[in-house]
Amino acid sequence: MGMPSLSIYANELIRDFGAKTLIRIGSCGGMQDRVKIRDVIIAMTASSLSTPSRGIFRELNFAPCADWSLLQSAVLAAEARGVPTHVGGIYSADVFYDERPDLNEQMIRHGILGVEMEAAELYNLAARYGVRALAVLTVSDHLITNEALPAEDREKSFGDMVEIALEAAFA
Ligand code: HPA
Repeated sequence: MGMPSLSIYANELIRDFGAKTLIRIGSCGGMQDRVKIRDVIIAMTASSLSTPSRGIFRELNFAPCADWSLLQSAVLAAEARGVPTHVGGIYSADVFYDERPDLNEQMIRHGILGVEMEAAELYNLAARYGVRALAVLTVSDHLITNEALPAEDREKSFGDMVEIALEAAFA
């Protein structure tokens, strides 16, 4: 959970196990009015305040982005299922209980669809090692409406995201 943990898993999957395709599935907070609870977000890019790769990028603002072929396959799979899906930029935060409402406002203003805590570093590592990565997320809570999915609803609602990710992985 979070980018430091993600960095350990992704590094080992790529370097020790030879993984060539990494798809993150998980929950996110919605950041636009049109993005509803239970909708799926396919993350084209992932902005962040910082990532574990900051140490090597230093003053460079590297733009972590998804693999195009995976993204395209995931969008086709979502469309075929009729799942309400949004494709665009997300925000990878370092904290769940955010104390920077001003930053969330800027994210919302700049069209960011949702917030989670891993994708930016996954995309950084995929770029570094020349493998494919994508994040497919289900909206579990909402930063504008403050709605949240009840725990028992999560199991049911997350099925679409899993199927989309599996179809993209093997397309
Ligand atoms: N913030 C960060 N990560 C999340 C959220 C959120 O609101 N919801 C699900 N993962």
